[in-house]
Amino acid sequence: MTKKITLKAVLITTMLAASASAGGHTATEQRIIAMKAVGGEMRTLGGMAQGKVAYDDFAALSALETMRNAAAAAQPLFAAPPMEGEETRAMAAIWEDGSDFDAQMNAMLAALDAAIAAEPADLASFTPLFGAVAGTCKACHEKYRAPEE
Ligand code: HEC
Repeated sequence: MTKKITLKAVLITTMLAASASAGGHTATEQRIIAMKAVGGEMRTLGGMAQGKVAYDDFAALSALETMRNAAAAAQPLFAAPPMEGEETRAMAAIWEDGSDFDAQMNAMLAALDAAIAAEPADLASFTPLFGAVAGTCKACHEKYRAPEE
């Protein structure tokens, strides 16, 4: 009984904390969080691509799917430019170039979809799919993400 109540209390506290923080974050902060999640999965996959970690088809597929979800969550959060004084590496060109940025977002999602659909069973089939995904990150960052200060 006591255990049940404690668990419930923990769950409620966690839910409250989650909703409070989501509500307290601006779109800029949320998209940075989402992109960091994309980057986290990229590290896992990059380790496999570089042979630092043994290729694991299940781990690769789940990382690709998590990355796809995070990237899809980030996309609409880039709709509006940052507010005055917000810390961001997103360049103004995103909102000046019209649909190009969105096209690059879609290219990333398409590369992720292709990699997921292929269900790469080994490193040899994973490597070119990973390369295609990584290429979309690089292309967009070169154009639209300011270098780190
Ligand atoms: C369509 C453009 C676009 C694509 C594609 C893209 N990014 Fe980004 N990414 C950005 C922009 C713009 C920012 C800066 C966001 C900000 O600071 O407001 C960013 C930020 C990040 C960050 C957070 C860095 C920080 O400021 O701390 C990481 C990590 C990241 N991207 C990884 C990736 C990875 C990995 C991929 C490919 C799988 C990728 N991105 C694809 C545009 C893109």
